[in-house]
Amino acid sequence: MPETSEIPVLTIDGPSGSGKGTISRAVAARLGWHYLDSGALYRAVGVAAGWADLDLADPAALVRCAFDTDIGFRADPAGEPRVIINGVDATDELRTETAGAAASAIAAIPEVRSALRDRQRAFRRAPGLVADGRDMGTVIFPDAGHKVFLTASADERAERRYKQLKDKGVSVTLDGLLREILARDARDAHRAVAPLRPADDAVRIDTTGLGIEAVVERVLALVQP
Ligand code: C5P
Repeated sequence: MPETSEIPVLTIDGPSGSGKGTISRAVAARLGWHYLDSGALYRAVGVAAGWADLDLADPAALVRCAFDTDIGFRADPAGEPRVIINGVDATDELRTETAGAAASAIAAIPEVRSALRDRQRAFRRAPGLVADGRDMGTVIFPDAGHKVFLTASADERAERRYKQLKDKGVSVTLDGLLREILARDARDAHRAVAPLRPADDAVRIDTTGLGIEAVVERVLALVQP
């Protein structure tokens, strides 16, 4: 068994809609590595807090919720990832903008971030891990051997989200999404703890106008030159 610190990690950070999730999953599949969707952990705590009717302005209750919520990941028969919160499949609820906004609010609480830190590090298992989030390269896996920071213009990110949600039958407007994305970016970039920023040693890739396959190939070339 390799020491945990010897297990390779590729971190992929960036703002919402930068393509992190799609790219990270594809790269993990190509490498045969594990995948951590850290945003899903924050979203799951936000959803669980909603179920328990907790006040988003009550940090102590949210921290307890972060420790107590059972969050599981599994693939459905088609290989699509499902997220199970306290035994209930909450995958669809997790992807809503309401869950994203709740996640972003609770993610600004330092004790919530600490409560989720070890859970995230536990995903580092052989043969390797692709970790997707906002602070994977800066805070959770600062020793990762490969770090990527994905960006894309806000307009393109809103459009991607719009298509994704429309395909799922969720009714949203492009304007509303753009406003939410800009607000979330501002909150994530300006919070005091673990703000969204590239690690000094991250390779930045602007995905505006690039197809998924092109980005996947560029990321893979960093790991397997
Ligand atoms: O990536 P996703 O949109 O699912 O993340 C939802 C929210 O969770 C983000 O807006 C951010 O506030 C928070 N988050 C975080 N740190 C991470 C992943 C997500 O603060 N590593």
